[in-house]
Amino acid sequence: MVAQPVHPAPIVVASNRGPVSYRRQDDGTLVAGRGGGGLVSGLGAIGTDAGAVWVCAALGEGDREAARAAGRRLDPADTGGHRVRMLDIPADTFAAAYNGIANSVLWFVHHLLYQTPLEPTFDADFRTQWAAYEAYNTAFADALAEEAAPGAAVLVQDYHLTLVPGLLRERRPDLRIGHFSHTPWAPPDYFRMLPDDVAGQVLRGILGGDRAAFLTHRWAEAFAACCAEELGAEVLRDGDGRATAVRFEERTTLLGVHGLGADADFLRRRAHEPDVAERMAALRAQIGPGRRAIVRVDRTELSKNIVRGLLAYRRLLEDRPRWRGKVVHVAFAYPSRQDLAVYRDYTATVERVAREINSAFGTEGWEPVVLHVKDDFARSLAAYRLADVALVNPVRDGMNLVAKEVPVVSDHGCALVLSREAGAAAELAEDALVVNPYDVEATARALHEALLMDPAERAERTKRLAAAATALPPARWFVDQLRALGG
Ligand code: G6P
Repeated sequence: MVAQPVHPAPIVVASNRGPVSYRRQDDGTLVAGRGGGGLVSGLGAIGTDAGAVWVCAALGEGDREAARAAGRRLDPADTGGHRVRMLDIPADTFAAAYNGIANSVLWFVHHLLYQTPLEPTFDADFRTQWAAYEAYNTAFADALAEEAAPGAAVLVQDYHLTLVPGLLRERRPDLRIGHFSHTPWAPPDYFRMLPDDVAGQVLRGILGGDRAAFLTHRWAEAFAACCAEELGAEVLRDGDGRATAVRFEERTTLLGVHGLGADADFLRRRAHEPDVAERMAALRAQIGPGRRAIVRVDRTELSKNIVRGLLAYRRLLEDRPRWRGKVVHVAFAYPSRQDLAVYRDYTATVERVAREINSAFGTEGWEPVVLHVKDDFARSLAAYRLADVALVNPVRDGMNLVAKEVPVVSDHGCALVLSREAGAAAELAEDALVVNPYDVEATARALHEALLMDPAERAERTKRLAAAATALPPARWFVDQLRALGG
């Protein structure tokens, strides 16, 4: 029996992580804080008057308690005024869906992270987790079916929720449903490592919507190719040969591409607040007078390729002794998905390699690698402002916003060493030094060239990079998708 919604919404957003998260304080009270993730600013763009509802999952115990206490919707005082429904999914179902399938299978597939002689192995545990993923997607579809007004636009986000468009269409054929992938999409040969029934369910799930959208044409093409190879679907193309839609079992799902740019106004304002200036002073002291800074800022995420970045820096110091004592690698690697052993091991490797470089090359008064692992947004902005070189070398990335944020706030121009496998390379390649992220030698050479770049050229390139990086502000990313759905 479907409960009647309090206010059916004309726009509904669904994502795993919502705009708010709760934690219980020592005195027993539950406090709300801003949730992580970039979607918050995108949704903020439509304002609180549009009557949109955001459906998300309770991520931890604090969230679950808040979701249970709220019943249907959270208190808007906690959510910046947004109408948010947080789903109280049982902890073990959530863990199996999020850690098991979303982060250890789908994320690995789309970022080509498996070490194939050893993994993946799809066994009985996988099947248990897959059932949890289906249950988690079903909980979203049920809630969305309740929250959406007749004919509403529903915007479903990411690899956590691939089954939702199809499940929701069964429940509410009147809705306009879009799915957006914030990740890359795997090429068919890699995607088809998934068991056939699972690969088919993921594709059919997304094709249950009216639109499937991606950050770049490359990922949209990969999705279309998977639909053709796995399902035998027909791919429709425009005059330039670009995939525009997938036709499967009498339905046509449009393909869309919406790049996501940096939020220039927010970043420029935030980067000039006093706490950022304080952190710049502290960082300058750590780097030392007259030295150059090669900066990287990432979650400690396997796809970000932090270890090869460190090895490239090591190579630079080995091959080009002129830089010894003259440069510091400022590496921020913030904790991510620490429930997964492979992430904890990766974090330990990053720390070990940084230590090894420091003990091999460091001298009295010069620490070659300054590694910070505690998340601090003000310090990230401080590093962006003073960077001489930014290193963004993911093995694969849907977009990568760091590559776009650095040029926007840079004080005196910053050379960008950028992986060709980041979605951002499609927009920034002309003024970045583009590298193959697996090629440590080539990355070391690019760092050397970046350090040598003439300051005037560097400033010019940074200006052009900033213009390209802000061409698609987050607000437009959201509004364009709504329009494309006919909202
Ligand atoms: C990155 C990806 C998003 C994804 C998010 C999940 O930001 O670009 O596609 O939704 O990670 O991260 P989480 O910390 O929620 O696992």
